[in-house]
Amino acid sequence: MWKCVSPLISIFSETKLIPDSNSGIKQLFYSISDTEYLEPFCLSLEKLQEVSARLKRDFSRGLGKHSHHKAPVKMLPTFVRATPDGTEKGDFLALDLGGTNFRVLHVRVVEEQQKVLKMDSQICAIPQDMMLGTGEQLFDHIAACLSDFLVSQDLKGQTLPLGFTFSFPCEQKEIDKSILIRWTKGFNCSGVEGKDVVKLLKEAIHRRGDYDIGSVAMVNDTVGTMMSCGYRDQSCEIGMIIGTGTNACYMEEMKNVKRVEGEDGRMCINTEWGGFGDDGSLKDIQTEFDRVVDKMSINTGVHTFEKMISGMYLGEIVRLVLVKLTEDKLLFKGQSSEALKTPGRFETKFISEIEEQDNGLENAQNILTKLGLKWELVDSRVVRLVCDTISSRSARLCAAALATIANRIRVNRGLDHLKTTVGVDGTVYRKHPNFSDELKATVRLLAPECDITFLVSEDGSGKGAAMVTAVAQRLALQSRLLEDSDGESDEEEEEDK
Ligand code: GLC
Repeated sequence: MWKCVSPLISIFSETKLIPDSNSGIKQLFYSISDTEYLEPFCLSLEKLQEVSARLKRDFSRGLGKHSHHKAPVKMLPTFVRATPDGTEKGDFLALDLGGTNFRVLHVRVVEEQQKVLKMDSQICAIPQDMMLGTGEQLFDHIAACLSDFLVSQDLKGQTLPLGFTFSFPCEQKEIDKSILIRWTKGFNCSGVEGKDVVKLLKEAIHRRGDYDIGSVAMVNDTVGTMMSCGYRDQSCEIGMIIGTGTNACYMEEMKNVKRVEGEDGRMCINTEWGGFGDDGSLKDIQTEFDRVVDKMSINTGVHTFEKMISGMYLGEIVRLVLVKLTEDKLLFKGQSSEALKTPGRFETKFISEIEEQDNGLENAQNILTKLGLKWELVDSRVVRLVCDTISSRSARLCAAALATIANRIRVNRGLDHLKTTVGVDGTVYRKHPNFSDELKATVRLLAPECDITFLVSEDGSGKGAAMVTAVAQRLALQSRLLEDSDGESDEEEEEDK
């Protein structure tokens, strides 16, 4: 049964905690769940179907040669033409930039054992000021970390091929030419948007002059995730991330990738579904809290869908709801605290802790104490309800988007029934106690003709990047990106699918 017809259902699941006689507390829960507070977060199945239909249309717009330039969901060709076939092998370097840390890895693909081995890796922190500094500083830092790593591994004399997981929207011209469209997730280094990231990396390495690298393959983390799972399960054709940001990629028929020459075979498309809604198409489901999160972010107006879903924003949405409930005297007897009033102080990981089955309420109480709040039992229950409502919405929106991809692959292949695997990664998916269950249950409702297996990726950004490089070497395929053109929309070309 659909749990979120109204948030009251969530309250009923809490009723065992609320004495029946205590009608005052019940009343409190009812008012919190009414239209002003939590109800706008509760999306009916019909609404999710509508969201999926809108995304389906946006996928076509993103893929179309004429409609792409205005499309909010960019559907970026990745030049990854095949998933692994198990014959790849060799030693690779991998770089992984996309969250708060930067990682360098040495990876070995061993054909005989069909294994991708992480030989060693090193983490370099990216300080906050560097995330907002110049591109040159950032790439010099990356080149320096790589240099240290090569020395520590005694690899400096070799020129190993390198997979660069760069988890931002990039217009890939070729596997080793990738133009950053825009920064997302808290990065905003100057002089990088519109530039070829591979070139910036190579220039930084040349500035140092103390080592060299072999061929480079650029990889989005979704692609790395799909490819790292693809070595284990060759029916893995979707990669999904629900972490700091959210996004997915999948194998699309070349004949539908109108912006790349060639009709045969398939190519992996990085959907950049985080940008869904940037043209206003999700206005009806955005809450007042989503609008504040967007306004306060460093990239207002972009990555609307991501801001309703991913780890960078969930904690802040919860905080804003708690602030409002406190202001309206429905929490903490109306007494707020400095910490609660401070943006960013309610961390997304708190949501997972508070929703833990056994210790959730106790965790909530400890967190509230640490935030300087004076709570009563009922406050901790309300906070848990708020967390549950907001993380459920996130899981369901992701499910709607994933169902759109699965249905698209099924229709592309003219199948009544599709069996496929999705490689998944990201802290929200991995760490939240019910997120994955909720997502899977909702996908089953929204894509009943698709039987989807979920595989949690083991280090997709590291091993997957090596795998992309390995597959690229195996195929040595080249395709050319066609110029975009203005003109009539080619949405209709695909409308009947
Ligand atoms: C953001 C980036 C995207 C990445 C995702 C997950 O949405 O734009 O490229 O895949 O975060 O890390």
